[in-house]
Amino acid sequence: MPNSVKWLGHAACQITSAGGRVVLIDPWISGNPSCPVKKEALSKADVILITHDHFDHLGADVPDLVRATGAMVAGQPELMAEVEKSGVAAEKTLGMNIGGQVDVAGIKITMTQAFHSAGAGAAVGYIVTLEDGKHIYHAGDTGIFASMELLGRIYPLAVALLPIGSLYTMDPLQAAYSAGLLKPAKVIPIHYGTFPALVQNADDFVKLAAEKAPGVSVEVLKPGQETIV
Ligand code: NI
Ligand code: MN
Repeated sequence: MPNSVKWLGHAACQITSAGGRVVLIDPWISGNPSCPVKKEALSKADVILITHDHFDHLGADVPDLVRATGAMVAGQPELMAEVEKSGVAAEKTLGMNIGGQVDVAGIKITMTQAFHSAGAGAAVGYIVTLEDGKHIYHAGDTGIFASMELLGRIYPLAVALLPIGSLYTMDPLQAAYSAGLLKPAKVIPIHYGTFPALVQNADDFVKLAAEKAPGVSVEVLKPGQETIV
């Protein structure tokens, strides 16, 4: 089985490694209008990464997901304190911060900066490095920043998951320039179409990415679809 990345709608993503490890990022499942699965279907996870505490990222399912899967939860220490208050045992949380890397069951997790707000701690992104060395970047909620170029150089990316929905995050134009800075093999647009106030489809992003990020292949997934990494 090859490595795969599945989009679960909005910012929720599931990475499954060839070695069978499962990483969930921002698993807003219950109440997510574009999520095609029920939380009960997510029965396997080794680690759950939370980018920040807005409802469309932290959601309410983390305690149940930890109970069902035994996964560790990683995020900023201030956010992990909140996650513990919601019923997750302290030994299941992994507080970390920007620039740091942890290894969970052979999967390396690196926390990156993001420019956005948060209630507890700061908003972040993640680079997930699979057992075979492939790097996958989830930007979280953010505007564009110039050091994306540096992230792409330090961690040559197989995949970048970038928000394109505007209003709360990058719009298609900023996301297209971001893809040009990051230079991933493949870019997958996320965080759009979920609410009427967000950009509704990836058409503009596809057009702009072809101009601003030549050489980067754009893969538009439907919620529930996956791509091989
Ligand atoms: Ni947010
Ligand atoms: Mn958001």
